[in-house]
Amino acid sequence: MTETVQVTLLVNGVEHALAVEPRLILADVLRERLELHSIHLGCEEGVCGACTVLLDGEPSTSCLILAVQAEGRSITTLEGLDGDPTMTGLQAAFHENFALQCGFCTPGVLVNLFSLLEDRGPSAPPSEAEVRTRLNGNLCRCTGYQSMVAAAMQAARSGSGHEDP
Ligand code: FES
Ligand code: FES
Repeated sequence: MTETVQVTLLVNGVEHALAVEPRLILADVLRERLELHSIHLGCEEGVCGACTVLLDGEPSTSCLILAVQAEGRSITTLEGLDGDPTMTGLQAAFHENFALQCGFCTPGVLVNLFSLLEDRGPSAPPSEAEVRTRLNGNLCRCTGYQSMVAAAMQAARSGSGHEDP
């Protein structure tokens, strides 16, 4: 019989009491047990960023942390940011700039860029170089990044009230 341990995870503001195998990674619990399908698993070794969530507000790859290690921490997935004004602006900018194709990387990219925009705040939008640096942790096979950078910059300008003329 497989050994399980009891863990309580705070995900998108809701506590979930779960029995999990100690070796189970957080990404698998979020996707398979909690059906949060924005969590994509690409490399499973912390390289591609497709599984990015906010852990206590910081972007983290959920394939590199065991579910049991996430107890007591606040976990936010893309689903938990639905309706947030910054995320809504970012998603609209992605739409307008055709910044996704297959969409596999997109949830992780959005969570990562959301974190950057929130960190900087509307009065200090990030530079293009900062956006590019932030995207170092997200691999995308489709877009060539230019459209994602353009979308992030548009969202940053829009959030700061400095819209394009
Ligand atoms: S699946 Fe987690 S970083 Fe690639
Ligand atoms: S849109 Fe396909 S991997 Fe990024």
